Amino acid sequence: MSAKTIDGKAFAQGLRTQLKGEVAKFIDQSGVTPGLAVVLIGQDPASQVYVGSKVRQTQEAGMNSFEHRLPDTTSQSELEALIDRLNADDSVHGILVQLPLPAGMNSDAILDRIDPAKDVDGFHPVNVGALWTGADALVPCTPLGCSYLIADVLGSDLSGLTAVVLGRSNIVGKPISALLQKMNATVVMAHSRTANLADVCRSADILVAAVGRPFMVEKDWIKPGATVIAVGINRWDDGKLGGDVARDAVEVAGAVTPVPGGVGPMTIACLLTNTLKAAQMSQARG
Ligand code: GUN
Repeated sequence: MSAKTIDGKAFAQGLRTQLKGEVAKFIDQSGVTPGLAVVLIGQDPASQVYVGSKVRQTQEAGMNSFEHRLPDTTSQSELEALIDRLNADDSVHGILVQLPLPAGMNSDAILDRIDPAKDVDGFHPVNVGALWTGADALVPCTPLGCSYLIADVLGSDLSGLTAVVLGRSNIVGKPISALLQKMNATVVMAHSRTANLADVCRSADILVAAVGRPFMVEKDWIKPGATVIAVGINRWDDGKLGGDVARDAVEVAGAVTPVPGGVGPMTIACLLTNTLKAAQMSQARG
């Protein structure tokens, strides 16, 4: 039997359509158009593609997009001054600084400088803390998207189920672990130093692979019927994309996200959701 393919592309399209309606309603009621500022430093080709998509989809959702593309000669203090201006600008409800920043820049200092209320990436320590203490927070976009896909397959109450998260990054591994715990899963955070990784993965009813190592998770690491979320995207020498999970995993799993077309499209859809949420919170604060 072959696993169900989790169609992230279609799910993200549905989210964006719903969001567009909510944005129109918000503008109608408040007279305020949500605005997202995207900051890109340097010429990284992948980042340029991501930022282009973010700008286009923000506009398609009916929100304002403010694009700041700066050369890689930009200094730390110049970028910090830009963040200060965006923090003070009432037409900007969300700020996203595309990572990675050029070598030599202090990313943590930049992320810490963003007003937590405008931190649509959910990377500021205030939002990280709020997520782990259970308070309402702006949640990082990729893990938020993963949680929606998991809930679509299994429902939002994961009581009694074991989730194994492979990878412990701030962008994916740690926040998805917090979200899965909130959904009542029993969460195991595994990583490169975990003993018997294959056995640990085989205990997973839900396996989230966020390591960035092509096809690292093999077919026989997967519990029959498991829900498998492949987050990492790896580009082969021939230009083709592949995930962290071997393709023949579909022969064992119950449901699998494809790469591309699984988690990827969810990230920007959730960024737009977070931008509307930030604008709504700003309006509620008055
Ligand atoms: N680079 C890769 N993923 C991300 C992300 O989720 N947010 C930002 N700001 N940069 C990224």
